[in-house]
Amino acid sequence: MFGYQDRAFYCEDVSLSDIATAVGTPTYVYSRAAIVARARAYLTNLPPDGLACYALKANSNLQILRLLAEIGLGADVTSGGELYLARKAGFPTEKTIFSGVGKTDAEIRQALSYGLRALHVESAMELAVVGEIAAEMGVVAPVGVRMNPNIDAETHPYISTGLHKHKFGVPIDQGIALLQQAQEHAFLRPVSIASHIGSQIRSLNPYAEAAQLLSDVAQELKTAGISLNYIDIGGGWGLDYEAMNGGDGVTEIGRWLDEVKKPIDQAGFKFVAEPGRSIVGSAGCLLAQVVYTKQSAVKNFLITDAGMSDLIRPTLYQAYHPIVPLVCDTTAPEQVVDVVGPICESSDFLAKDRSLPQMERGDLLAVLNAGAYSFAMSSNYNGRLRPAEVLVNGSEWHIIRSRETFDVLH
Ligand code: LLP
Repeated sequence: MFGYQDRAFYCEDVSLSDIATAVGTPTYVYSRAAIVARARAYLTNLPPDGLACYALKANSNLQILRLLAEIGLGADVTSGGELYLARKAGFPTEKTIFSGVGKTDAEIRQALSYGLRALHVESAMELAVVGEIAAEMGVVAPVGVRMNPNIDAETHPYISTGLHKHKFGVPIDQGIALLQQAQEHAFLRPVSIASHIGSQIRSLNPYAEAAQLLSDVAQELKTAGISLNYIDIGGGWGLDYEAMNGGDGVTEIGRWLDEVKKPIDQAGFKFVAEPGRSIVGSAGCLLAQVVYTKQSAVKNFLITDAGMSDLIRPTLYQAYHPIVPLVCDTTAPEQVVDVVGPICESSDFLAKDRSLPQMERGDLLAVLNAGAYSFAMSSNYNGRLRPAEVLVNGSEWHIIRSRETFDVLH
């Protein structure tokens, strides 16, 4: 979906220099075909009664959400705002689940008034509050319990969530007790167990372990008279960040699904997953322009008009994103550079010690594999305006979010 045609860098059939010239920089550009291919990889490999609930937190642009709802995905939301967006985008409420460790009373009311597939609770206190609010509203709340399986996800510590030292979920024995309480409550209905052990996981083992564990627990609950409707394995497969277009995501998603759905299928429960990154991650890039170049005694810097307020992943997780010039000059010598932004922090970088063809003031570049947790984590830090977003479809493109203007700053 992204690649050079001749010497110009393209998204599908559109030259990214054309978009940069028309819309300016920084700008996020997404490939519709890439999003659809990965979403379909989930849908075609799910068991017949399985469900893939797209995790809105990865990228919640309304046009992208509409596309995913249309294709047939459900939604995994984590705030009242995401719940609002999921509804607006057209995700059916019976395919929407609400995850999150700190749902407020107002968010619980909002969820219950919409009538979702389930609220996944993460503590005894939350279950009690959901029960009280459901009773007050006179509705029966479908609840799942997020288990903390104490499994090491083998990922960056900031995005590992399945160990007992993390704030997420409840230990298995507590979770079983909570489902029993829900079973006995007049306004609660236990429907699922869930786990989400972390994100950007590229090892099948921790997922297979979690799927087996949840299946065993669900069977144990069944014997005890609690029949759950589904088991939710949490977020999806990680991305090959070093590779152009995130590597072979479609094949990898199929392999991941085969592995995790097996024990759940065998135990006789419906399968739910909440993929985010693997659907949109490789489908987006961030366009930026070189504002200045400069040299210190030890470094070459490319100072661009995009920085950590636009894409914080390199700063926050030491994440690697490929960077390419939009015009490939095969005669330019390679140079090792730090690609940095204009923000007043030394942590403001997009790449460190990166070997790139020499670039000059005014040159355009793309930071790749930036479709997930990229625009979604952007901010107005340093009075900066969030970038525009563009969706490419074949040889057509259109702006799906305008660049912010100064009036958002007050
Ligand atoms: N379900 C739950 C409950 C989650 O917390 C998450 C992600 C997902 C699903 C989606 O997981 P995925 O398929 O995207 O791995 N900002 C970080 C990632 C944070 C992930 C938070 N939870 C990053 O840029 O790497």
